[in-house]
Amino acid sequence: MKALILSGGKGTRLRPITHTSAKQLIPIANKPIIYYGLEAIRDAGITDIGIVVGETKNEIKTALGDGKKWGVKLTYIEQEAPLGLAHAVKISEKFLKKDPFVMYLGDNIVKDGVNSFIDEFKKSKPNAMILLAHVKNPQEFGVAELKNGKVVRLEEKPGKPKTDLALVGVYLFDHNIFKAIRHIKPSRRNELEITDAISYLINKKFSVQSHIITGWWKDTGKLEDLLEANRIILDGLEPSRKGRVDSESKLYGKVVVEKGAIVSKSVIRGPAIIGSGAKITNSYIGPFTSVSSNAVIENSEIEHSMVLENSKIENISRIEDSLIGKSVVVSKYPHKPAAYRFMLGDSSQVGVV
Ligand code: TTP
Repeated sequence: MKALILSGGKGTRLRPITHTSAKQLIPIANKPIIYYGLEAIRDAGITDIGIVVGETKNEIKTALGDGKKWGVKLTYIEQEAPLGLAHAVKISEKFLKKDPFVMYLGDNIVKDGVNSFIDEFKKSKPNAMILLAHVKNPQEFGVAELKNGKVVRLEEKPGKPKTDLALVGVYLFDHNIFKAIRHIKPSRRNELEITDAISYLINKKFSVQSHIITGWWKDTGKLEDLLEANRIILDGLEPSRKGRVDSESKLYGKVVVEKGAIVSKSVIRGPAIIGSGAKITNSYIGPFTSVSSNAVIENSEIEHSMVLENSKIENISRIEDSLIGKSVVVSKYPHKPAAYRFMLGDSSQVGVV
């Protein structure tokens, strides 16, 4: 069995972060999103893994390398444009050959891993297996209709969803999926949709099984999803203190202070993580906050937020519900006239009080 991780795409919903970086590399609890998928696949015993890459290929290759670090072998497959999930599968046929495979969307996190689905797939050997979950906003997902437990119809982002069963970003296929993809046409948004390919299998009476998952999972396409993923993963961390925390600082609850971090005159209320080389001085770091490596926070308060590497926050009384990108500076301007002064990239979002 092989695996295919999709990490191309446009990431339009996460601009401006995705103007400069791959969304699959945004750190959740200071670990790139794609590592969670890769580790889940490795833990399921799969070592031959294809990575579909697009515009951000160099960054993804630098982050994952040849896979040795995880004990797996990675093969990069270049997609010339994000022409759809089924297109990504189509261009991977040479790598996948006749092997059954798990396809994993590189921006998804499935907390309990994928072992049980893969075991079930291996045991019952259907032509395809899809994972489903009950969601509140099915119109934003591929949606499945079931009859007596069998998938009878799939629809991509329907205006009027018939069920609340969304497709989770993990799929299992045998080689018949390539035949299905050869028969489908690009959709209205000009993508080869995996839902159309699976619908072809259903219509041609191939066996398509579904599995409703009950554990936590997230498709991290939007800011709120990233913050939620960060909350859930932080909450599961084991507290540790490898960096320096001075005697005037207080740490409450699950707090991870990574090696080389320095915390002085500050209060950190977990779950929270402070990355290596980060400096927290005279500040309050509230629950559900990740501070990445080499970030600096001084005389500030921040809660329920993610601060990426090398950013600096100075003299800000309170930040909440925020994603601060890499090498960003947020500071109070000491001179008159008192005014907000911004340099914001395209598609930035700012909320002022
Ligand atoms: P999506 O989140 O559906 O698409 P996107 O990344 O373009 O984001 P947005 O909708 O905000 O513009 O993609 C799911 C995953 O699959 C993601 O990791 C990117 C990847 N992908 C590809 O590798 N190739 C593709 O052609 C598409 C559409 C997605």
